[in-house]
Amino acid sequence: MSDRYAVMGHPVSHSRSPFIHGQFAAQTGQDIDYTAIDVEPGSFVDAVKQFQAQGGKGLNVTVPYKQEAWQLVDTRSHRAELAGAVNTIRMNDDGSLYGDNTDGIGLLRDLTLNLDMTLHQKRILVLGAGGAVRGVLVPLLEQGPKQLTIANRTVEKAVELAKVFGSIAPVEPAGFEQLAGQSFDIIINGTAASLGGELPPVPDSAYENCELVYDMMYAREPTPFMAHASKHGVGAVDGLGMLVEQAAESFYVWRGVMPDTAPVIAAVRRALSGA
Ligand code: ATR
Repeated sequence: MSDRYAVMGHPVSHSRSPFIHGQFAAQTGQDIDYTAIDVEPGSFVDAVKQFQAQGGKGLNVTVPYKQEAWQLVDTRSHRAELAGAVNTIRMNDDGSLYGDNTDGIGLLRDLTLNLDMTLHQKRILVLGAGGAVRGVLVPLLEQGPKQLTIANRTVEKAVELAKVFGSIAPVEPAGFEQLAGQSFDIIINGTAASLGGELPPVPDSAYENCELVYDMMYAREPTPFMAHASKHGVGAVDGLGMLVEQAAESFYVWRGVMPDTAPVIAAVRRALSGA
C-alpha cells in the first residue's frame, strides 16, 4: 500500500498541494498517496491523531492550523521553533510527531535559485507581521541583508517580530507612513491585502530603484500589489514558486528525496491559467 500523506486546512478544497506532490511522486518514483482533508475548526488535533492511527506518514498544515500544529508536535526544527508555526509534520515510526516549517526556505529558494536574486547586503522590506511573515523571516535574515524592515498596519506587531527575530540579525519595525523617503532593493508582500483585492499602502519612494517585488500570494491574474509595482517599472512576481518550493522541502523531510521543482512550477502555472 502507498504511504499516506495529506494537507489539512480549512478551507482546503482549492489546495494545489495534492497535484504538486503527485507530480513529485511520479518524478521521483516514490510510492505515496496524498489527499486534501478539510478539518472543521476545533477538531484539528483529533484529525491528526485519526490520520496517524490510520497509518498516515506525514502532513502539510495550512491556514488556520499552523500554530495549533506547532503546539501539537513533540519536537520541532530550529526554523519551526522560531517561526511559531508548523506547516510540515512527519509521523515517526515510534509514534512521535516532528514539526518543521518549510515556508521560509521555499521563499528563499524561489528568490535565489529560480529568480537568481542575491539577498546579502540588500535592503529588504517585508510587508505584514502575521503568521505568513513570521514563517519566512529566519532564512531571509540568515542571508545577511544590509537592512530588513518590517512594515505593518498595526505597528505593535512589527515591533514584536523585530524583538523575536532581532537575535538573528537587526530588524527594523515600521508603520507604512514611516517608509516615506526610504527605498528598498526587494519588497516582499506577506500581508493578506491581496486576498481582499487591496493594495498595502507603501509610499512611492519605496519602489524607486527597487529590483523586485514579490507577493507571497498567487493568483491567475497579477495581484494589486504586483500591478502597482509594474506601474512603477519594477519587476513583480507572485508566490507560486514559493508554494512549489516549500512543498519540495516537505517532500524531502518525509522522503529524503529532493524533487526537481522547475517542471512542477511550470505545470501548476499552466493549470492555474487554465491552459
Ligand atoms: P497570515 O497568517 O496570512 O499572515 P494574519 O496572521 O491574520 O494572517 O496576518 C495578516 C497580515 O496582513 C497582518 O500583518 C495584517 O495587518 P494587521 O496586523 O495590521 O492586521 C495584514 N493585512 C491584512 N489586510 C491588510 C490590508 N488591507 N492592508 C495592509 N495590511 C493588511
